[in-house]
Amino acid sequence: MLCVAPQFRKNPAVPDAVVVEAPAKLNLYLRILGKRADGFHELESVMTTIGLYDTLRFTANDSGSLELECHDARSPVGGAGSPPESPPPESPPSGPSNLIWRAAQLLRDATGCARGAKIELWKRIPIAAGLAGGSSDAAATLFGLNRLWKLNASPQLLHVLASQLGSDIPFFLCGATTALCQGRGEIITPLSLPAGLSVVVARPATGLSTAEVFRHCRPEPGTGGGQQLATALSTGRLQAAAGHMHNTLQEAAFRLNADVLRLRDAFSRLPFVGHLMSGSGTSYFGLCHNRNEAVRLAGRLRALGVGAVFVAQTRP
Ligand code: C5P
Repeated sequence: MLCVAPQFRKNPAVPDAVVVEAPAKLNLYLRILGKRADGFHELESVMTTIGLYDTLRFTANDSGSLELECHDARSPVGGAGSPPESPPPESPPSGPSNLIWRAAQLLRDATGCARGAKIELWKRIPIAAGLAGGSSDAAATLFGLNRLWKLNASPQLLHVLASQLGSDIPFFLCGATTALCQGRGEIITPLSLPAGLSVVVARPATGLSTAEVFRHCRPEPGTGGGQQLATALSTGRLQAAAGHMHNTLQEAAFRLNADVLRLRDAFSRLPFVGHLMSGSGTSYFGLCHNRNEAVRLAGRLRALGVGAVFVAQTRP
């Protein structure tokens, strides 16, 4: 079996279906090093997955067509992994503009596969929130359809297709739950961190466009911070790790969206070990010593009314 981060799940109720849990991610570190000739930015990032999942179910059809259905995540078959205080579901675009659809089409083109599939999505990861829900869904689609259609596409081919679809997507296929990501995001070095770090994630009602945030950021040359953060975490030095938490995109996001600034102010007033915006925003998260502390601080954030707040843990 291919070793990948999306969680494969057997579904006894529908034996011919492939079910994949696609996790959300947080950036514990994100430094934008400079602008590249291809328009993208060179970066160094530490990404880790958390226990908040979208669920995708793939069922073969022989008509050769692709169908994509988005369900309410509160309906059955949605599956495991959703913390009770997770944010309410939202509707991603359905049809060819969805990354899931584009991933399915790209896999068919690359392998010459003429088969079709019905793809059902139960969405729990908020969109336009810096949690890479769309990227994770696309990675889960490459993984799930490779299995459903018995294509035996190699991990190398899936990696190439993933990087064509988006900079964050290869991480979700790398087989590790935490990794140092470099280049555009597609050069992956797996990292080993202690499992079950507790975080509180908050997301305002408004989102941000990734391209827009990158356009407004001021690059900061200099590498090595991500590795320092990972070393501190792997030796259990939470406070030292917090000192390395950094996100270059934060300043741009603060200028573009006052809700993110309000979140930063709210987190600053509470005793988190460290706090940071994830990715290009708008989600903001705080690192805690343990789950009890996370639950308590989440309650205090909710009382401040700064957005949808949930507690999560990094994955083993
Ligand atoms: O790769 P992806 O399609 O997810 O990126 C969305 C946008 O974010 C890109 O169009 C680009 O504007 C910006 N981006 C960037 N440098 C990266 C990753 C993303 O400039 N390394």
